[in-house]
Amino acid sequence: MSRAPNRNPAPGSRTSVTEREFTRSNRLSGRVVLITGASRGIGQAIAQACALEGACLALASRSRKLIHEAAAGIPGAFPFVADVTSAKSVGQLFKLVRARYGRLDVLVNNAGVFTYKPFSRTTLSDWETNICTNLTSLYLVTRAALPLLRRSGNAHIINILSVSSRKAFPNCSAYCASKFGALGLTRVLAEELRAHAIRVSAILPGSTSTRMSDEFDFAVDRRRLLQPSDVAAAVLSALLLPARAAIDEVLLTPSQGSLAEHASTRKSRR
Ligand SMILES: NC(=O)c1ccc[n+]([C@@H]2O[C@H](COP(=O)([O-])OP(=O)(O)OC[C@H]3O[C@@H](n4cnc5c(N)ncnc54)[C@H](OP(=O)(O)O)[C@@H]3O)[C@@H](O)[C@H]2O)c1
Repeated sequence: MSRAPNRNPAPGSRTSVTEREFTRSNRLSGRVVLITGASRGIGQAIAQACALEGACLALASRSRKLIHEAAAGIPGAFPFVADVTSAKSVGQLFKLVRARYGRLDVLVNNAGVFTYKPFSRTTLSDWETNICTNLTSLYLVTRAALPLLRRSGNAHIINILSVSSRKAFPNCSAYCASKFGALGLTRVLAEELRAHAIRVSAILPGSTSTRMSDEFDFAVDRRRLLQPSDVAAAVLSALLLPARAAIDEVLLTPSQGSLAEHASTRKSRR
C-alpha cells in the first residue's frame, strides 16, 4: 500500500504528561502497577500519570533501549524487557516482578499493534501479529498476574482496548477482530474476578496521536486526535474510584469526530 506522507508526525518518542494536566498527589502510593507497552505512546503516558500519584511502576516492552529510557524519565519506575506474545517471556517477567516487589495491585494490559490494510491484502502474518499481541497477550499476562492480584485485596485490571472493540472500520479486519475478542474476554473477566476483589475495566480510546497513527495511508491532522494524556486521565479516573465502585467501560473519542469521519470528509472535498 502506498502511503501518503504524514504531514503531522507524532511528536518525538517522549509522551508528555505534565503537572498542569495532572495534580501531583499520592493516591496510588504503596501500589504496584505493571504496564505493558510502556516504552512510548499511551502506555508511557499512563506510567507518567501513575507516577504523579506515587505508584511503584513496573514497565514492560520488547525494546530494551526504549523501555530503559522511558523508565529513566519516570520516578518510581523500573524497566522489564518482555514480549507479551510469548508465554516464556511473560513467565520470566512475572518471576522478576515477584522478586522485586512481592506484590501487584494494578495490571494495565496496554501493549498493542495495528494493521491498516484491506482484508484481501491482510496476510496470515498480519492476522497472527494482531491476534497474538492484542488478544492472546491478555490471556497470557492476566493469567500470570492472577496469583499476585488475588493477594492484593483491592486489585484492578485495566485493558486498553479501542473503539474498534465495538465498531467495525474498513481496512482494520485483523485489528477489529482482536479488539472485539479482547472486549469479550474483558467482560468475562469482570464477572469472574469480582469474587476475588479484582475490578476489571475496559478503556476504549478513539484515534490517539501516537506512533500507531502512522499506519494510516492518509495524512492525519494530529491536532484533532486524542492525546495519550487524555487516555491516561481516563485510566486514572477508573483507578482512583473507591473499591466499592467499578467502571466497566469508558468510550473516549475525539470531540471533533473520529478519524474515519475526518478521512471521508477530506475525500469528499476532493
Ligand atoms: N493510537 C491509537 O489511535 C489507539 C486508539 C485506540 C486504542 N489504542 C490502543 O492503545 C494501546 C497502545 O497503543 P499506542 O497508540 O500507544 O501504540 P504505540 O505508540 O505503537 O505503542 C505500542 C507499545 O506496545 C509495545 N508492544 C508492541 N508489541 C509488543 C509485544 N509483543 N510485547 C510487549 N510490548 C509490545 C511497544 O513497545 P515495543 O515495540 O518495544 O515492544 C510500545 O511500547 C494499544 O493496545 C492500542 O491498540 C491506540
